[in-house]
Amino acid sequence: MTQALSSQAVIAVIGAGAMGAGIAQVAAAAGHTVKLLDNRPGAAAQAIAGICAQFEKMAAKGKLSPQASKDAGARLLAAGHIADLSDAALVVEAIVENLQVKQTLFKDLEAVVSEGCILASNTSSISITAIGAALKHPQRLAGLHFFNPAPLMALVEVVSGLATHQDVADTLFATAAAWGKTPVQAKSTPGFIVNRVARPYYAEALRVLNEGGADCATLDAVMREAGGFRMGPFELMDMIGHDVNFAVTNSVWRAFFNDPRFLPSLIQQDLVDAGFLGRKSGRGFFDYSASAVKPLPATAPEQVQPKDIVVYGQSAVAQALAKRLQTNQVSFTQAAADGDALASAGGATLRVTDGRTATRCAVDTHLPNTVLIDLALDYQTATRLAVSVAAHCDSAAANSAMGLLQAAGFAVSQLQDIPGLIVMRTVAMLANEAADAVNQGVCDTAAVDTAMRLGVNYPCGPLAWANAIGIDKLSTVLAHLAQTYGEDRYRTSPLIQHQLYAAKVFS
Ligand code: NAI
Repeated sequence: MTQALSSQAVIAVIGAGAMGAGIAQVAAAAGHTVKLLDNRPGAAAQAIAGICAQFEKMAAKGKLSPQASKDAGARLLAAGHIADLSDAALVVEAIVENLQVKQTLFKDLEAVVSEGCILASNTSSISITAIGAALKHPQRLAGLHFFNPAPLMALVEVVSGLATHQDVADTLFATAAAWGKTPVQAKSTPGFIVNRVARPYYAEALRVLNEGGADCATLDAVMREAGGFRMGPFELMDMIGHDVNFAVTNSVWRAFFNDPRFLPSLIQQDLVDAGFLGRKSGRGFFDYSASAVKPLPATAPEQVQPKDIVVYGQSAVAQALAKRLQTNQVSFTQAAADGDALASAGGATLRVTDGRTATRCAVDTHLPNTVLIDLALDYQTATRLAVSVAAHCDSAAANSAMGLLQAAGFAVSQLQDIPGLIVMRTVAMLANEAADAVNQGVCDTAAVDTAMRLGVNYPCGPLAWANAIGIDKLSTVLAHLAQTYGEDRYRTSPLIQHQLYAAKVFS
């Protein structure tokens, strides 16, 4: 196995902004002498003072001994000129996100550093291959993509350009691990892993909003309480800033030659045009002014508990529903599986969405009183569920379906009859993108799941989640979305298709 750089190795960090300072802190904490360079006079010294204050805070909290904090601070040196970095074994660049500026810097560095020195860029959107094209020895350049804030976020994407030598990527991988991080390896493709695979988290929510599926607060609440995501997509976009989020979406879309998978949303374009950039400008999807009241999610009013609840079959969802009803001392009967019906009450039939609208499902199954429920990360513990109701469903039957779910302890949010509701279509598209990244050799299955759990805090890796849903079900959802929209955006990844057929048994 390739060794990490020794803690005796000198690390240089160029750019003393948010990322550079964080990376310098991580390397110094791991025992390296770190030279920090910035072309803004005083910026490196100022960043070092900030890092030392962080070390002191950690010492005050007992996370570091006072001596270790002092020693780590003393290992940070402000460099005045690029020539001061000649003894570095690794240079990590975290300067302005501009290809020409980065190329010029690396060319200048090549003239200064030793032959064995590894060059790394913290870029989040520029091709490592393209940066390397300006170098005499592009094989020693790789991406070392930390997440913000670098001292706290565990994930580091180690990104190989076309010319990057595997030993260089392996050394960076081992070094990031020695620094206490969880590295993953990726090929230099647009968005690398996280910024590519995360696109549907925003895109599907924006589509559902655009189609009047529900308001932002309701969709956010469903994604948190049923999907298990830490933040809903709208509050998250408001936090990231629409200028930043829209720019990333645009750059990934353009970089994939306008693949409709990544098509940006007019809603977000409008917010950017209006200057409604989110929290930082006081307004985005939500109002952040002092007098603003955060809107509550729409929750169905309490319905009478139905007396004729039947739960069908032994699927994981059926078992979870039965357990919740038992816990709440609600009487119900259990029946053998009946197609993909989950439960019934008051004439309504409940199913988990398979990507069809409730209305289409009602017609296909000849059951007008069809109510669909959304995906939940864990049906046993979810506190809220989204539902959609077929156009043909009478209101008494719909109320019985709500009453059943409420009796099981769910808050219910009724969405318009959107295909795939919100959690299911989002997770299906996250898994679809993750599968394409693997299928196209960007990274392996374990890397994509690790990257999404640690880079954007998803409660489950998208491919592990796909397996939990079942590849059959997942591909049905994607096929129905593709049918409804007729857009290439919803095409099923060849890897998912392969897994679907590979699981079939010849008879
Ligand atoms: P920043 O604007 O906070 O800091 C950049 C620093 O680089 C500034 O102090 C600036 O004076 C300095 N600088 C600019 N050109 C320079 C040059 N030619 N030589 C020396 N110093 C120079 O930017 P931030 O956010 O720290 O980003 C830096 C890099 O990290 C960018 O490539 C960005 O895409 C990437 N990145 C940013 C993340 C974020 O969330 N902010 C996350 C992951 C990567």
